[in-house]
Amino acid sequence: MLEYTSKIPNQKLSDSANTASLMVKMRGVTKTYPNDGRGLVGINLDVKRGDFLFITGASGAGKSTLLKLIYGACRPTQGEIIVDQVKMGQLRGDSLSRLRRRLGIIFQDYKLIPTRTVSENIAFVLWAQGFTRKEVQRRLLPTLKLVGLQHQANCFPQQLSGGEQQRVSIARAIVSTPPLMLADEPTGNLDPDNAQQILKIMQKLNSLGATVIVTTHDQRLVQMSNHPVVQLRQGRLYRNF
Ligand SMILES: Nc1ncnc2c1ncn2[C@@H]1O[C@H](COP(=O)(O)OP(=O)(O)O)[C@@H](O)[C@H]1O
Ligand SMILES: [Mg+2]
Repeated sequence: MLEYTSKIPNQKLSDSANTASLMVKMRGVTKTYPNDGRGLVGINLDVKRGDFLFITGASGAGKSTLLKLIYGACRPTQGEIIVDQVKMGQLRGDSLSRLRRRLGIIFQDYKLIPTRTVSENIAFVLWAQGFTRKEVQRRLLPTLKLVGLQHQANCFPQQLSGGEQQRVSIARAIVSTPPLMLADEPTGNLDPDNAQQILKIMQKLNSLGATVIVTTHDQRLVQMSNHPVVQLRQGRLYRNF
């Protein structure tokens, strides 16, 4: 195990060229929570466009905090974060919302609206972003097909299994075709078969060009593929070689 810091960039590239090829760049990022809880310490991370990266680590290691920093739900105490060439530190209000639209975010607990159908849950994101009715219709069916839920379009979330609900939440995250997908323990509540199905969908998206970052404490998920893996331990990032 080496600190991931050692993998940091080819110094010969000019900084701007380097930054353009990166979807996420973190330099010296520390997050300290107010109660003196150390969230993250000295994180350096490069995620290139088109990468599929696993972030593993025990509960409390800092996985969710790392993703929250990337999608701007919390701010670093120190250090710099650049997402899709945008410096997160300076983002507020509208510009943060604009960046968020370029991210698809998936959570362990799905966060679906129980009183809305599968289609409505998925379309909601597009309505909120001002897509036309025609554009919403154009995107809905291919997205449902991609996650294998075309026959459940009019079901409500509670009529679906956990695996199906997670596929709805993935559909919702990808229907606006965001270039970066962040998944925080997406298979945490699923059995191995459903976990594998979710992994395959994320790999499919990656093959279509999305950059994908997945946190998990499930080694089986990581071993089902040979994507690069970094590990968080007590807020520090390491890379397996
Ligand atoms: N909002 C918060 N306030 C205070 N401490 C927090 C908060 N969120 C996370 N922490 C602490 O930061 C550390 C990392 O948490 P988290 O990122 O949720 O880890 P993981 O997702 O790997 O389980 C833990 O020690 C946790 O208790
Ligand atoms: Mg977490």
